[in-house]
This record gives sequence, structure tokens and C-alpha cells, in this order.
Amino acid sequence: ARHLLSVADLDAAGVRELLDTAAEMHLVQRRDVKKIPTLRGRTVINLFFEDSTRTRSSFEIAGKWMSADTINITGKGSSTSKGESLRDTTMTIASMGVDAIVMRHHASGAAHQVARWLDELGTGTSVINAGDGTHEHPTQALLDAYTVEQRLGSLAGRHVAIVGDVTHSRVFRSNLVSLRLLGARVTVVAPPTLMPSGARAWAERDGFTLSHDLDAVLAGTHAPVPDVLMMLRVQHERMSGGYFPTPREYTVGYGLTRDRLATFTAASPEGVICHPGPMNRGLEIAADAADAASSLVLDQVSAGVAVRMSVLYHLLASGEGAAA
Ligand code: CP
Repeated sequence: ARHLLSVADLDAAGVRELLDTAAEMHLVQRRDVKKIPTLRGRTVINLFFEDSTRTRSSFEIAGKWMSADTINITGKGSSTSKGESLRDTTMTIASMGVDAIVMRHHASGAAHQVARWLDELGTGTSVINAGDGTHEHPTQALLDAYTVEQRLGSLAGRHVAIVGDVTHSRVFRSNLVSLRLLGARVTVVAPPTLMPSGARAWAERDGFTLSHDLDAVLAGTHAPVPDVLMMLRVQHERMSGGYFPTPREYTVGYGLTRDRLATFTAASPEGVICHPGPMNRGLEIAADAADAASSLVLDQVSAGVAVRMSVLYHLLASGEGAAA
């Protein structure tokens, strides 16, 4: 079966093909009657072991608009609460003859593991990674790229600053790969305590810049002022060891505050702000920034449906597609 487990499995042409199809799906999304027959007779299961608003509902809408049958299973309501293993759960679902499992799981690598089990079983079920631990969230990166390109044109040569809780962010890891494939220059900004260990060697190898000084990045001290500020969510739920820096310190050092928004807008008048959601308003992003004309937050949500339609199309409807 063909899967979408990680942006790292794609090449530049594969990413571009998914984005081009998303543009066509966006036209469907804007129609009065959105239903198209493309996936009639296909069944897609959303299997979510972590909470979600955007990803789960947009995959469900994407499937429904393409006439697939879509079913939602969450960890809490499933037999995993009785102790059933992930292997037994996914093998059980696949054995019913479903065409795709869209899976979110708290363990990094879970989607890859499930894809291997299902390939061994030979059910032909595709696995789509809807976020695995701190590893990857490929459809989020695709929709981020799509949204920015809709506003700014090609990402090639654009400067994107990814700011915040980098350590815990699967959105960061997927975006790093897709942005590089699309030719963007990337600066990663985080407090030292929320920058992954080994980041310096990683940055040297993959050609991105690290900074602990958001104000210097916004001032264009070492590189052009960013065209895109990609703010990351502070992931409280993954900070079992405590919360450092404190929320107040975080906002002072790394929040997109009203003052920083003014600085950014003055220096980069066409610059845009992204956030994958859910947002911690007042922590990593001020309400003024979240709701600014330069904020693409709701455009990202809208693009999420079109991008997920594109992914489902390439995995389930076409012959040879981009996602492999
Ligand atoms: N961005 C994102 O994955 O949001 P959800 O957790 O609401 O799906």
C-alpha cells in the first residue's frame, strides 16, 4: 500500500504535485455543491489517540466531499481502553477492508510502525500520519506551504522564521523538510531550553540558522527580515518535568507581542504570520497578532481541507501519485 508517513519520504516534485492538486481541490471547496464522486466506495477511518479539532474534522470533511465513507474512532471510545494493543487495534480495523487509516498517536514513529504491520498483513490499507508524538505532521506542513504560497507566491528564496517550542514540535520537523524542498531559507528561533539537543549539528547539515534572539531576527540583524513568522504552540502537555521558561518569561522573550507585531509589520509590510493551532493566545501569540490582517491562521484551516483532499486523492484515487 502507499502511505504518507513523513514529508521526508517526499521529494520536491512530490510536494509540488500535492500542492497543485490541493489548488484544484480548493476550487471544489469554494463551490456551492462540494460533493465530487472521486472516492465513492472508499472507506477512510480517522483513528485518533490524541485530541484534535482541525486535523480530524478536516480529514473527515475532505473524505466526505470526495464521497468516501469516513468513520471516526478515538482512543477513549475504543477497545484500547480495555487494554487492546495498537497492533491488534489497527489490524482489526484493516481487516474490515478499509482503504485508509488516518492516525494520530502520542508515540513518535507510531504511524511508521502501523504501516509496516499492515504491509506485512497485506491488506492494502494506506496509512496517513496525522501527527506522531514529536516526530512529524506532514499534512500540516503541506497546508502551511500551500497557504503561504497562496498569499506570497513561490516560497523559493523566501525567509521563514519558525519560532517557539521547537523541541516538542512535529509541525516544525515536517515544515523544516518541506520548506527546504520548496527553496525557502529557514531560521529557527527558540529558548535554549526548548531547542532540541543536537540542533547545531542538524542546522549545519541541513542548512538552516539557529537563534535564541527573536528581536534580532525581527530586526534583520543577521539575515533579511523574515517574510513569514511561523509561531509554534507551547506544548504544556508534553512538559512533564515542569514549565521553563515560565509563561511570563516565554512571552517576554519569544511571544509575538503587540510590540513585535508592529516591528514586523513595519519591517516586512507584506510579511505574514502563521500558527498551526490551537493557539495559546497571550502566551506565544498576542490576540492582536492572531487576528491581524497579516495573520493566515484561518486560511491555514481552510487550506487544510483542500490539502487533505489532495492527499486522499493521491493515495486512494490515482494510479501513480506523489505520496508513496
Ligand atoms: N494543527 C493541528 O494539528 O490542530 P489539531 O490538533 O486541532 O488537529
